Amino acid sequence: MTRSLTILGIESSCDDTAAAVVRDCDVLASVVYGQTALHAEFGGVVPEIAARAHAEKLDHCIEEALAEAGVTFADLDAIAVTAGPGLIGGVLSGVMCAKGLSAATGLPLIGVNHLAGHALTPRLTDQLTYPYLMLLVSGGHCQFLIAAGHDSFQRIGGTIDDAPGEAFDKTARLLGLPQPGGPSVEKAAKTGDARRFPLPRPLLNQPGCDMSFSGLKTAILRARDSVVAEKGGLATQDQADLSASFQAAITDVLIEKSRRALDTYLALNPEKPAFAIAGGVAANTAVRDGLMALCAGLETDFVAPPLRLCTDNAAMIAYAGLERMQAGEQDDLTLSARPRWPLDKRAAPMLGSGKKGAKA
Ligand code: KG4
Ligand code: ZN
Repeated sequence: MTRSLTILGIESSCDDTAAAVVRDCDVLASVVYGQTALHAEFGGVVPEIAARAHAEKLDHCIEEALAEAGVTFADLDAIAVTAGPGLIGGVLSGVMCAKGLSAATGLPLIGVNHLAGHALTPRLTDQLTYPYLMLLVSGGHCQFLIAAGHDSFQRIGGTIDDAPGEAFDKTARLLGLPQPGGPSVEKAAKTGDARRFPLPRPLLNQPGCDMSFSGLKTAILRARDSVVAEKGGLATQDQADLSASFQAAITDVLIEKSRRALDTYLALNPEKPAFAIAGGVAANTAVRDGLMALCAGLETDFVAPPLRLCTDNAAMIAYAGLERMQAGEQDDLTLSARPRWPLDKRAAPMLGSGKKGAKA
């Protein structure tokens, strides 16, 4: 039996300052300080402002997480920190803070890939066994990964341009709906007619499971402009119909491409087939329901971790650090912050694999 481990996790790669304490598969505390208000007037995350805010807030955030978990540094086995990929100033704030704590306490330091944090979350929440299929779908990422070990990921497809969350955010902006766009487009879509605007399903008929969402955004712009030209503006029903048509297009693409990703994964004959989703877009009911139905038809478990662990948080970083520690791995004070850090080292770089858009 492996010994129980208690890990402090630190996350600061984008616009959430987060700290968490995880003991084995229990999240003892997970504190997230968002920065939405700081960046609101700029229409996107400003890297300098984000980095400064992380540097100012990290120690408070860590103190709060330790207090909430009811532990002190003496109870910890290691400090895990996001070492990339992300906005370099923010990543550096976290790495420097973790190094300081490690030097002062003597606790081992463990650098974690932020994407591995997302990809290992289903093991924290549902104890999935390797290999499982993962769709990471957020404002900055969209990729299918087969997770075969804590450091063994095969990327079998992804977006070649925008991430779906980014497309939701841009669509909301075009339709005059509030940010973040995902929830407001989903809400408007509830009373809309998804058949009114026949939007494209990019790359749907191409082989493989790569995706493209930038053309969809242009199609929404054109559809909106034609309504405005005809009526002089957008009525609430037009917003609802455009939202519903957009959401249906994104959902169709994600589900069809997931079907193909599942084909590749199921060919490996996993003992307990499982498909997990993470990232902010995992909150979308149409996407979730569609994927759940797809998995049910293929006798594959569908796992959607609770939303607070699907979006950026530090519990996933602590847990990924825990798996590294169990494997006998750790870093030292030479750990460096990396703006880019692909999970699948063998896969060719993809245009859409970096962090960009409203959340980057
Ligand atoms: O994972 P996340 O919190 O941050 C990163 O992108 O790293 O994801 C945020 C993204 C935003 O683009 C937001 O619009 C989208 O997730 N999102 C949604 C929904 N809730 C959040 N997209 C579609 N439907 C939703 N209900
Ligand atoms: Zn993330």
